[in-house]
Amino acid sequence: MCQNLGMRLPIREHLFSMSAYSTGRPLDETLRALGVSRVARLASNENPLGPSPKAIEAMKDAASATNYYPDGGGIALREKLAKKLELPIESIVLGNGSDDIIHYLCLALLDEGASIVVGDPSFVRYEAGAQLQKAQVQKVALNDSETHDLNAMAHAIDETTRLVFIANPNNPTGTIVRRVEFDAFLADLPPHVVVALDEAYFEFVSDHDFASAREYLVEGYPVVGLRTFSKAYGLAGIRIGYGFMPAELSDAIDRIREPFNTNALAHAAAIAALNDIDHLRNTLDTNRTAIKRISSILNRYGATTTETHANFVWARFDEPTAPMVDALAKHGVFVRGGAMFGRPNCIRVSMGTENDLDLLENAMATVTTGAQSR
Ligand SMILES: Cc1ncc(COP(=O)(O)O)c(C=O)c1O
Repeated sequence: MCQNLGMRLPIREHLFSMSAYSTGRPLDETLRALGVSRVARLASNENPLGPSPKAIEAMKDAASATNYYPDGGGIALREKLAKKLELPIESIVLGNGSDDIIHYLCLALLDEGASIVVGDPSFVRYEAGAQLQKAQVQKVALNDSETHDLNAMAHAIDETTRLVFIANPNNPTGTIVRRVEFDAFLADLPPHVVVALDEAYFEFVSDHDFASAREYLVEGYPVVGLRTFSKAYGLAGIRIGYGFMPAELSDAIDRIREPFNTNALAHAAAIAALNDIDHLRNTLDTNRTAIKRISSILNRYGATTTETHANFVWARFDEPTAPMVDALAKHGVFVRGGAMFGRPNCIRVSMGTENDLDLLENAMATVTTGAQSR
């Protein structure tokens, strides 16, 4: 039995100002409590089609050797990515999800008193990485079209700034930064700043003017690209992501990271997923249809939706959405409320299968009041 002897453990004081990421209750438990049998998981921008069958096979094959440590350098996967991206293997870093690499970037670049510049709202893990380093976070409001305001972000950069995070497409809004704006932003970037373009939803983008990190890295800019197998490749549960960056930075991260930060099943699954073009194509087709249908359902109930370049729709209502989010959950439909992004009137709804969206449509009809219906 643990006893409190009145002593405090020497935990770093500033950790108490941070909050733990809430992943919610385990799904099984939630379903039991709600008494629903069918669910639509539309809250975390996952792939509703599941992993590629080839990735599942590869993981089964790799499972029998999991008594051995994995290849800590992840060479086979990094070679594959290097070839695909036409980048040197030294520039590629693997992570236990791209979250892991966000964390390493903060460890490598931020001392106490340094700062990062991020969009608001944007992906929440950037802030956590900075806080851990006792670095400051300069949040810059998105513009009226819910897109990163690169002009304002450039103005927020000062001598303490070391890192700028731009989620492109942005989570939660699904908007993108285009080349023209990003060129202008880079032209004025002071030399002490690295820009991380977080391309977690890269595969879903079809806009020809999209500012892709790879192009800028090749041209020699201090740019990092972050990508993941959690979204279009349907492998969120196995945790594998990657970054590409100037070799000087990947070398620094190699010194920081856990020697086995990515595992053998993840390496095997990711390689197989990259080889399964059909699964990716199917995912992108399903997403196009899903995005249109989700937008039309939400518009019907009075929401204004933002044009998305990812696998989710960001929608704004005239009133707080928390009651609607809770009511939908009672029908087994899980969507993300905007409150965690500081936008209580918004919701984010991820791509789903036809069945998922039937559930969404029926549940919306039941939970929304006449006033919201349009
Ligand atoms: C913009 C963005 N970056 C990174 C991540 C983290 O992805 P991973 O599963 O690879 O850690 C997410 C996940 O939602 C995201 O939306």
